[in-house]
Amino acid sequence: MTRKITIENKEWEKGENRFKYCEALEDGNILFFPTTPFSFPKEEIDFLLTQRQSGSSSRKNIAYKPCLDQVTNHGSNDLASTLRLKEILRDYSLRATEFLTKLLQPYANDWKLDYASFRPFQEKGRKLRVRARNDLLHVDAFPTRPMHGSRILRFFTNINPSDSRHWITSSEFKELAKEFYQIVSIPKSVNYSLAAKLGRKMKRFLKSSGLKKALRSPYDTFMMNMHNFLKESSAFQESCHKDHWEFPPGSCWAVFTDQVSHAALAGQYALEQTFLVPQRALLYPEKSPLSILEQLSGKNLIDQQFLRELFPIHTHHSVSNG
Ligand SMILES: [Fe+2]
Repeated sequence: MTRKITIENKEWEKGENRFKYCEALEDGNILFFPTTPFSFPKEEIDFLLTQRQSGSSSRKNIAYKPCLDQVTNHGSNDLASTLRLKEILRDYSLRATEFLTKLLQPYANDWKLDYASFRPFQEKGRKLRVRARNDLLHVDAFPTRPMHGSRILRFFTNINPSDSRHWITSSEFKELAKEFYQIVSIPKSVNYSLAAKLGRKMKRFLKSSGLKKALRSPYDTFMMNMHNFLKESSAFQESCHKDHWEFPPGSCWAVFTDQVSHAALAGQYALEQTFLVPQRALLYPEKSPLSILEQLSGKNLIDQQFLRELFPIHTHHSVSNG
């Protein structure tokens, strides 16, 4: 069962056990910081609270892409405010990364910095199509960014000046997989030689046609199907056990969202930074969704070639933002 592990008073600076927090995350817990563990000027927060997202509410968030230094879905046509927003999101992304590089040092050499996001909508009563809803329990999977077994680690900050963000969590992936893998069904295993050949051919074709579509592994297909199944199953949503969590103004939390089923029931104005943690950086890879699924199915569910392209091995300590 998911626990909230509170980390106060710069406890992380002691550095006595650098594996402690990674271990807690891999066990499916939430790391909770009652106050933001890095500087976040009030003037920047006040600016964010005035920002609106672009017209279509089907777009879930305002996104900041660190590798491109680009903001998408911002609702303003005013260049000065767009630039200011980008600057603030860039700084948030940098400070969150700098902090977590110290806290989660065993991951920091290998993780890949993914998008940051700003969530200006009130989650309660928000009108979204079922598969995009945040208020239904789910495990995370990205439709356009296959993970090939890498983990989705997310760090959130509630910048709402007065209201908590209200989450529920339910079972962890290992329980969900056991319960539902026959309904969701695990795709066929990877035939390495064939997949490698097809993969190269396909990539060349896609590149030449100007498309940037990434290829899903059987693992990614399962995770996407699981995400959709959970949101669409009213039986699961209604009958599963639920733990409630309140994240007050100014607090932060980190969790592996591909492992812990979660939903945001209420709350407005949160920031978030995502990290993709490859299997090789995990302390207990046997606890990861990939290992659990490979064990249940007895199949290979990822293609090592794509994994190597997504996560080239670093020879020095650095934060990749590719
Ligand atoms: Fe989620």
